Amino acid sequence: MLSPRYRCCALGDATTEMRSARAISGRRVLAGAAWRSRQHAVRLATETVGAYYEHPQSEPPRPVAMGQQILKERVAAVALERVADFADDKLVLGIGTGSTTECFIDILHKLKHRIDTTVSSSERSTQLLRENGFSVSDLNAVPRVDLYIDGADEANAQLQLIKGGGAALTREKIISAVAERFICIADESKRVEVLGAFPLPVEVIPMARSHVARELVKLGGQPVWREGVITDNGNVILDVHGLQIHDAIETERRINDMTGVVCNGLFAMRSADELLLGTAKGVVSQTE
Ligand code: 5RP
Repeated sequence: MLSPRYRCCALGDATTEMRSARAISGRRVLAGAAWRSRQHAVRLATETVGAYYEHPQSEPPRPVAMGQQILKERVAAVALERVADFADDKLVLGIGTGSTTECFIDILHKLKHRIDTTVSSSERSTQLLRENGFSVSDLNAVPRVDLYIDGADEANAQLQLIKGGGAALTREKIISAVAERFICIADESKRVEVLGAFPLPVEVIPMARSHVARELVKLGGQPVWREGVITDNGNVILDVHGLQIHDAIETERRINDMTGVVCNGLFAMRSADELLLGTAKGVVSQTE
């Protein structure tokens, strides 16, 4: 019997998810077990269910390429310049979630005098902001959000994004909807021609998980339950593999229309206003 720790997420009660996991077995969706037993776990899981999945929270820290970290820091520095350039003196700043955003939070103290308050897209970012001496307000308590800074998992030429790798997509989407301006910060590995190579996160009410998974299969995707992950809103995440998203607005709408879906990670109806991309040649700005 395969240890629960090594089980594919699809071994739950949802047969659709099981089929999906099998369908993606060729791509060996990784994640999962104790790092030292990783190869063993892959073999066991692949033999037993044809797929191997580990949700990001249980994965040991991956070594981040030094170059990529520098690109994130550079792009964060340019985002800070954008905040400095903003005309208003007392800004309400929206803060996203993820490692690139954390590079930005790390240097934000340089502009503390310019920031009235912040709103945050996750408990994690809220904690970091507070540790750095910033006030974090309830979104309902602020009259506006001047500027929203956040990372992305993928970005295309139209500045449409896939987000939610850190499971914070719903709050991120709410803040970006309110924000006057949304600046997306990312390293060049995130820039794609067609969205969808990164599995699209969908936040789902827990009791609707299997229903939504079946609906996502009808859409042509292969949903995989990010087992063990509960969002800040108390919901679960399905990561949809195998999509090639050519009409991101239509796909975003269709997934939103599925009963039980709280939010999906496509930021197409509200795309970014500016994409700051860290490249080996410097930070490139893209606006539509
Ligand atoms: C979190 C997100 C992040 O912005 C996205 O996952 C990018 O993260 P990172 O900057 O660590 O690559 O959407 O829900």
